[in-house]
Amino acid sequence: MNKLLIVANLKSYKTENEAKEWLENFKKIKEPGQNLENKEIVICPSFTLLSLFSLYISDNNLPVKIGAQNISPFDEGAYTGEVNAKQIKDFADFVLIGHSERRNNFNETDDLLSKKTELSLKYGLTPIFLVQGKDNLIPQEIKIIAYEPIFAIGSGNPDTPENANQIASLIKSKNNIYQILYGGSVTSENVKSFTGMVNISGVLVGGASLDPEELIKIIKNA
Ligand code: PGA
Repeated sequence: MNKLLIVANLKSYKTENEAKEWLENFKKIKEPGQNLENKEIVICPSFTLLSLFSLYISDNNLPVKIGAQNISPFDEGAYTGEVNAKQIKDFADFVLIGHSERRNNFNETDDLLSKKTELSLKYGLTPIFLVQGKDNLIPQEIKIIAYEPIFAIGSGNPDTPENANQIASLIKSKNNIYQILYGGSVTSENVKSFTGMVNISGVLVGGASLDPEELIKIIKNA
């Protein structure tokens, strides 16, 4: 059985000092009684914080992996401003691909997302591919999906666990997918209603993860 996957997406938040404070508080995840059995935790900070997170996590031996929130659609080369898969692999094991905030604000197309997927795999990063419904195109190689309906993102208005489970089941039946996560207004109060569904094997948490104490509660209750 796969572990329950809990992914925290810190989005475009946290300066270096704020991130240090976040990590100092999140360190409590190591204290006994946090109910971590069979759970895998992935934190996705901004590129500027990847090195800080990765050092802190290894120095403090935290039971956490790192993910990037984005990846260049190009390999290393003359692509000013881009951060490529090979560079990300120095710090991270996972990468988010296809978030609706990127599809909508940066016009990311299916073709671009498939290039990002290819490069992430080439350099040994595990892509977590985000879809907004059952009909998104999913590159063949993808094994982990996060279903995040747009109405639920940052709105305080999550999908119902039953509907999320139904969508997850439809996605699984059409694709060779191992794990489907739910994302969109997940909190410590509602997390269990999603992770308790048969087709849902984890959650992707945005806003609520900005508060490290709340993220610890989400992990504990998942
Ligand atoms: P939210 O965001 O938890 O703030 O709704 C989810 C996400 O966008 O990853």
